[in-house]
Amino acid sequence: MKEVDKMRYDFDSYLNRRETGSSKWLNMDSRNPNVDRDVVPMSVADMDFLTCTEINEEICNYVNSQTLGYSKPVDSYLQTVVDFFREHHNYSAEKDWIVTTPGIVSALATSVNAFTEIGDEVIIFTPVYHPFYEVIEGQKRVIKECPLIYNNNAYSINFELLEKLASSSKVKMILFCNPHNPGGIVWSKEELIRIEEIAVKYDLLIVSDEIHSDIVFKGKKHMVFGSISETIGERCVVCTAASKTFNIAGLQCSNIFIKNEDLRNEFVTANVNIGLERANILGMVATKAAYEKGLNWLDEVKTIIEKNNNIVEKFFNSYNNLFKVMKPEASFLTWVNFENLEIEHEEFMKFLDIKCEFFVNDGLSFGENGKYFIRINTGLPTKKLEENLERLKKYLKECYNVISK
Ligand SMILES: Cc1ncc(COP(=O)(O)O)c(C=O)c1O
Repeated sequence: MKEVDKMRYDFDSYLNRRETGSSKWLNMDSRNPNVDRDVVPMSVADMDFLTCTEINEEICNYVNSQTLGYSKPVDSYLQTVVDFFREHHNYSAEKDWIVTTPGIVSALATSVNAFTEIGDEVIIFTPVYHPFYEVIEGQKRVIKECPLIYNNNAYSINFELLEKLASSSKVKMILFCNPHNPGGIVWSKEELIRIEEIAVKYDLLIVSDEIHSDIVFKGKKHMVFGSISETIGERCVVCTAASKTFNIAGLQCSNIFIKNEDLRNEFVTANVNIGLERANILGMVATKAAYEKGLNWLDEVKTIIEKNNNIVEKFFNSYNNLFKVMKPEASFLTWVNFENLEIEHEEFMKFLDIKCEFFVNDGLSFGENGKYFIRINTGLPTKKLEENLERLKKYLKECYNVISK
C-alpha cells in the first residue's frame, strides 16, 4: 500500500450529494433537518470519495460511442471477472458459473426464494446487515439466529449452537456474511471449514455474501467460501460485486458464482419469474474497468481507509475504556460499543444526530445484540472525519462531562 502523501488520486475532495438523492445524505437531513450543510455523514455504506478516474473514462467512452439498450454480459466481461477472482482471491471459477444480478441483496432474496420453501428455516449470524433479516422474513421463511459470541471486544462463531440449529430438519440454508458487516471480520479458513462440515453433515446450502472481500487489511486473507473444497463448491452461492470496493453501488451490477448447474438454473428461473434477468450495462462497463484498470485506486483507497480506521480507533481509545472499538480487518466500517458510557441507547443515538451532527448507523438495526453499538463508515475525506470526531468530543464534554485522556 502507498504512503498517503504519494497518492495519485484525489481522496480529499468530496461532493455535496443532496441534490443527487444520495441515500446517506437524505437520511442525514431527515434525522436532523437543521444539520450544518458542511457535514459529511458516516452511515450508509458507500464512500464519499470521487470515483476512480479510469472507471469514469470507460463509462464516458461507452456512453459516447454506444447505445444504452438491453444487454447481457459478454464473454470478455465474464473473463475479466473470472481473472480478477483467480488473481486476487485464488478462486478458480468458470465463466459460465456467473449469473449477473442488479445487486447482492436481490441475489440473497432470490436465493432464499429459489432454494427454500415458505416456513423453512434459515440460519444467520447476528448482529448482521439488516437486509439479511428482511429477505428471509419478507418471504415468509423463519430466521434462526446464531448470535456471535462477543468476548474481549471480538466476535466468534458459536459452533455448538450452530450445530444444534443446523440439526433441525426445517433448516435449509445458512446466509453468511464474509467478511462480516458490521464487525469487519475476515473469517479464517478454519472457521469456514467448520461451517462447511456442518453444512455438509446436515445437507444445507450456503449463500455467502462476499461484497466486502476486496478491502482487507494487512495480515488478513479473505477466503472465497466456494474455494474451501470441492464439496462446498457444489452447495454454495458466492455473491460478489465491485460495487462496494470501487464505490459504484448506484450502477447495480453484481456477479453471483454458482458452480452447480442445477442450482444455477433454479436461481436463474427464480430471477426470470420476477422479471430480474437483466444486468445494468453501465454497471458492467464500470465493473470491467474497475477490475482491469482500478487496482491502483483500490490500493490507495485501502491506505486512506486504514488511516481513517486508525484515527477512529485512537479517538475512542482515548476515552479510557468507555468505548470499545472492534478493529476492522476488512472494509470501511468500524463497530463501536458504548455500553460503558452508561447512557441509554436511544438517548445516545439522539445525542449523536441532533447535538453532535455525527451520523452513523444505529447498532440496533443489525439486530437486538447490536444494542449499545454504532457503526461508523470511514469512507470519507480524513479532514471531514476529523471534524465529525471533534464535534463529538466537544459535546461529550459539554453534555456529559465525558473527557478524553
Ligand atoms: C454485507 C452487504 N451485503 C450487501 C450490501 C448491498 O448490496 P447491493 O447494493 O448490491 O444490494 C451491503 C451494503 O452495505 C452489505 O454491507
